[in-house]
Parts: sequence; structure tokens; C-alpha cells
Amino acid sequence: MKQENLSQLIEQMTLEEKVDQLLQLSADFYTKAAEEQTGPISELGLTDENIQNAGSILGLAGAKEAIQVQKEYLEKNRLGIPTLMMADIVHGFQTIFPIPLALGSSWDLEAAEKMAEISAKEAAVSGVHVTFSPMVDLVRDPRWGRVMESTGEDPYLNSRFAEAFVKGYQGTDLKNDFFRVAACVKHFAAYGAALAGRDYNTVDMSERTLRESYLPSYQAALEAGAKLVMTSFNTVDGIPATGNKKLFRDILRKEFGFDGVVISDWGAVKELIPHGVAEDEKAAAKLAIEAGVDIEMMTTCYSHFLAELIKENSIDERLLDEAVLRILELKNELGLFEHPHRGASEEKEAVILSEEHRKQACEIAKKSIVLLKNEAILPLKKEEKIAIIGPAAASQDVLGAWSWQGKMADAISLVTGAKKQGDNLLYGSESFDYFHPSDSAVDEAILLAQQADKVVLALGETEWMSGEAASRSDITLPSAQIELFKKIKTVNDQIVVTIYSGRPLDLRGIDDAKAIIEAWFPGTEAGNALAAILWGEYNPSGRLSMSFPESVGQVPIYYNCDSTGRPLETTNDEKYVSKYLDVSNYAKYPFGFGLSYSDFHYGALELDKDTLTPDDFLTVSVTVTNHSDISGTETVQLYVRDLVGEVIRPVKELKGFKQINLKAGESKTVRFTIEEAMLRYVHRDFRRQSDPGSFEVMVGPNSRDLQKAVFKLMN
Ligand code: GLC
Repeated sequence: MKQENLSQLIEQMTLEEKVDQLLQLSADFYTKAAEEQTGPISELGLTDENIQNAGSILGLAGAKEAIQVQKEYLEKNRLGIPTLMMADIVHGFQTIFPIPLALGSSWDLEAAEKMAEISAKEAAVSGVHVTFSPMVDLVRDPRWGRVMESTGEDPYLNSRFAEAFVKGYQGTDLKNDFFRVAACVKHFAAYGAALAGRDYNTVDMSERTLRESYLPSYQAALEAGAKLVMTSFNTVDGIPATGNKKLFRDILRKEFGFDGVVISDWGAVKELIPHGVAEDEKAAAKLAIEAGVDIEMMTTCYSHFLAELIKENSIDERLLDEAVLRILELKNELGLFEHPHRGASEEKEAVILSEEHRKQACEIAKKSIVLLKNEAILPLKKEEKIAIIGPAAASQDVLGAWSWQGKMADAISLVTGAKKQGDNLLYGSESFDYFHPSDSAVDEAILLAQQADKVVLALGETEWMSGEAASRSDITLPSAQIELFKKIKTVNDQIVVTIYSGRPLDLRGIDDAKAIIEAWFPGTEAGNALAAILWGEYNPSGRLSMSFPESVGQVPIYYNCDSTGRPLETTNDEKYVSKYLDVSNYAKYPFGFGLSYSDFHYGALELDKDTLTPDDFLTVSVTVTNHSDISGTETVQLYVRDLVGEVIRPVKELKGFKQINLKAGESKTVRFTIEEAMLRYVHRDFRRQSDPGSFEVMVGPNSRDLQKAVFKLMN
């Protein structure tokens, strides 16, 4: 439909029809008979007209159902405006990929784009038009359950992944490519900074920190073309995001130039009341529409009060018209006026969980798994007798939170995956509880450990221990699992601990295992991917995108921290410096860290010059050699430190990375260019610019083990 026709369409709409376009309802309203719609749904007080004209639906999937719902919707919609179907496809549709925090640990942008492309295809043939992804919230606190949804603690890495996700979801021709879906970047803004890691809690930070560290990844998603933005539940500078005019109209729309659809998070418009900035739903509706929120998800402040606010001249009808126009433009960009069923096709649903999709999911899972420790016990050998025991050994609880349409029954357990690696295996016959294992299960595990050369002790969190509303104050493994480790160790200390988790954990209970593998939640192909790493079919290449603390008492802990006036520079003996009495300042396993079966050595860091001018660039090079007889992938990381700024500057910041494959004995020289633009930061007046002065440049395999050199930026 032509743009001018959309405006003409709006002129034909009644005030009520326009307001209905701003309402998003869950699929239950369209798939369940009225009498089944109990609970909060029935309390929304909606008329049949509200429901039949609601502008969009969330959480509906399945081609047959989607086609039927759209057909009935169009039959009842006076002007023939199609509805819009949105859903949470965060790391896969039915083929579930590793959680985003695992994808972040792959440092493989092509893998992320491929994940998004496959997810979009499976969702699109199932009738979905928009996905509520990527979630690009910067995270620094593993107590927060939704760190699993983020790609990690670094603005630069999160920005690159945000771009990759959007490109994979949307492709280059959203109007005609019905295997793609529109991307909704979330949660704007800074949801990951909830105080004390408690979900939905207050966020409080300076605008400069918000702009320096938290906003870049959203902006990167928008520059990659994301079509929607979702508001966050939290406050930003004392005002809830969903009613925050400065955040949405000034920063998002004016400064970032975003003219797409803004959708509230679930119930977030009405939550302005308990936040304490709106006395009732009418006030909440006014705040949100003035802030620029176009769609209200699953509450009815707009439905019940927008028309009244307009009629009494409390708000200008133009605010409503602009919201309706953005929603209709989105429907038009998706081609829904001409093709209201878009990609929905029962025939094409055959692509879901295809062998090719599963193969891709397995490859990406292998890349996201991180080897944290290996005292020459891995890779396992076929001739070794291996006991695979523990609660996660035969578990199919490997998909992780936000795996919505994914089915555990489709998932590959570690035992199943291990059987493809060989038959010299011992494994339990009983189910093994994560928290209260039976005595017989424990006794059986101990017996198997006694009979084995080595033990793979599969531990971890269950799916519900991370994700939304799943903050933990104690991020250790469940105590029964630590007890099990201790018991097994008494009969066999050749223990490899594998961990499924949705967050970095405090591993003190098991950290004297001979080897530790963080597998995150690897998705449908979990067991195949993890077993391939255990037996060396795949040489682990994952590198942490979020720090593992030594203890939760250090949290928030992140690599790109500030120096302070009393930095802990040397030994722990100094008293009056910034440190703890009872734990180090440093992560147990730092950002960028991960081991390989290869043995990579870095040559001397070289700069082609030690001064840089704004119109020039300098080249940093380092030669990396694989001293082992096992080929592998190394992620060479580039960090920079601005030694003196107008404001304090982090002790280091990731500015680039390159993944290289090195055969046995092979060397490669890796080169990075440094330009003035890479040295810009947010000043007191919020301008992003560089200052002349001295900088450190650092290169290495992670954010801790780095070689340094100094250069000057001249005027
Ligand atoms: C949830 C989440 C958001 C999700 C939305 C729809 O509360 O915060 O990420 O997209 O509701 O399910």
C-alpha cells in the first residue's frame, strides 16, 4: 500500500478504531473460547470490538492457527486492516540455539546471524511477523536472571551482536522475503542494571554512564535497521522508561532518529501506577502516549482512556494519529496489506527442526561452550572408561529460558550425545534430582565413578533458575551437587565438571575439579555439542562474554571497570587501597577468557608508529603461533586504555577482535588498525569525542593476559 494511502486510511478510521490499533493482546483472546478466558484476561474489561480490532497479537504460532485467526480478523475489520503477530523468538523457534549469553561467548557474529536467520524462517512459516529480539541489555550482575538473554558485559561486543541478530532476522527485503521477521530491540533502556540484580528493580545511574556504556548496543541495533523498540520495566533517572519522554522522544526519536514502532513491555503502561508516577490508568495512558509509546501490551489504559483524554483536550489527537501511522507503516513494510498471511504455510512448516537446522544448532553450540579449566585431563580418549553421572547427565533440560516453542523432548542429552563418541561409557539408570537426589541415585553414581578411569560430572541450573523473574542472591551450584562432587572425589579425583547454567556462577564448591566446562544452555543439540568437545571432535573456542566472579560478594564485577583513586596496583599487602579483606578484586575467569586444546603463543606486540593524528591510523600487529599438534580457533582481542580523560576512563575497553584458525605449528600475524574515532567517549556535556593524549593499546587471548604498548593521539 502506498504511504499516502495509509494516511487516507487513518482519516477513515473512527477514534475507537484508532485506539484499538494501539492495543496488543495475547493469543488466548483469539484461540480460546470466551468462557475459557479466565483470570487477568477477563478482568481487562474489553469489548468484542476492542478484541476484534486490536492492532496486534502476541504469542500466537502455528501456520494453520495463524491463517485462521487472520482470516477471521479481516472478516470483522471494517477497513480490512490486517493484524500483526509478534512473539518471543530469542534464541530459536523450535530448533533451539544456545542462549544469547552463550552466543556472546562464541564471539562469532556469523553464527549469531545464522541463528537469527534460521529462527526467523521457522517463525515466519509458523505465522509470526515480529520477534521480540534482540535483547541487547548490557549486564554486569549475574544475580539477575536475564543475563542469559544478553550477549554480555561489553558495549562493543554487544553492539556487534545486536547488528548480527537484526541482519539475520530481517534480511534485506522484509516486504518480500517471507522467511524473515521484523526485529524488536529491547529493553530500552538499561534494564540490565537493576539494583542488586533483582529483576524489575530500580536502575539508577548518571546519564553519562547510560550514554557511554548502556545505549550503544540499542543504537547499533537501530542502525542495523531494527523495526521496533520495546520499553523496559525499570526507571531511568527516576522516571519509568515506559513514561519517560526524554528517553523516548528526545534520545530515541530525535537523537537516534528512530521513527519506528515503540511497544511497551508486558503491562508496563499500567505499572506506571505502582511505580508511583501515575495515580490511575488515565494518568498512565497520558504519560505513555506523551512519551511516545505506540503499542500497549496486555493492559488497557489506552483502550479505556485515550479517547476520553482526546475529547477533553488533555492530549492532542495527533499523538494518537502518529502512533497509528507507525503501526500501519510497520504492517505495510511487512507486506501484510497485500499478503496478510505473509509466510504462514503448513507445507513450509516442514523446515522446522530440519536436519540442516539441527546441524547448524550443533555447530553454533560447540562454538559457544567455554573450557574454563583443564589439568591435562581433556580431551577424553575412546579407550578410557568414562562415567557420565550427575543430575544433568541424562537431562534434557538444556534449552534455557525463553525457549518458548522449543521442546525438551527434542533435545539431545549429554549421555545420548556421548554414545556417539564411543561405547566405553558408564551411566546411571535412575533419574537424578538437581536438588534432592535419592540415596540410591547417589550410591549408583559413586559406584560408577569407582569403576571408571575418568568421571564426567554433569551439574548445573535448571531452566527456571534463570530468565525473567529468576534473580538469585546466591549464585553457587545447588548444595546437593557440591556434596555429590565431594563424595565422587573420594573415590575418583579424575573429574571433569560440565555445567549447564543461565549465568556465570560462583564455582568455589567444585573449582578443584581437574577440568571445568561452562556449557550454558546449549539448546536442542546440547549433548551432541558437549560430547564433541569432551572427546576432542571439536576443539573448544568459546571465550566468556561475561566475567565469572570468585564470589557473589564481588558483584557487580566487570573487566572494563574504573581505576579509582586508590587502585590495587601491586600486592595485596597494601592496606589503604580499593580491595576486600576476604577476596580478590579480580574475576575467577575474566571477560574474554577460555581455554583450547591447542597451545597458542603470542609474539611481541608491534606498532607501526607511536603517534596518531585524527586523519590517519596506526597498525597494531602480533604473531600468534599454535605450538600444539591440534588445530584450533583463537580469538585475538584488542583493548585500549585512555590514560587521561575529562572524566574517569575504564582501565581497558574492547575495541576489536579477530578469530583465526591455526593448524598445528602454524603462525599467523594479526593486524588491527586504530583510528581516532575508536578513542571517542562521552564527555561531561554528552558529546562523544576524543581528546589528544596518551593511550595504552593491549592485545591478547582475554582481558587479563595482555601485552601493552603506548601511543599518543595528537591534535
Ligand atoms: C516479558 C518480557 C519481554 C517479552 C514480553 C512478551 O515480560 O520482559 O522481554 O518480550 O514480556 O513476552
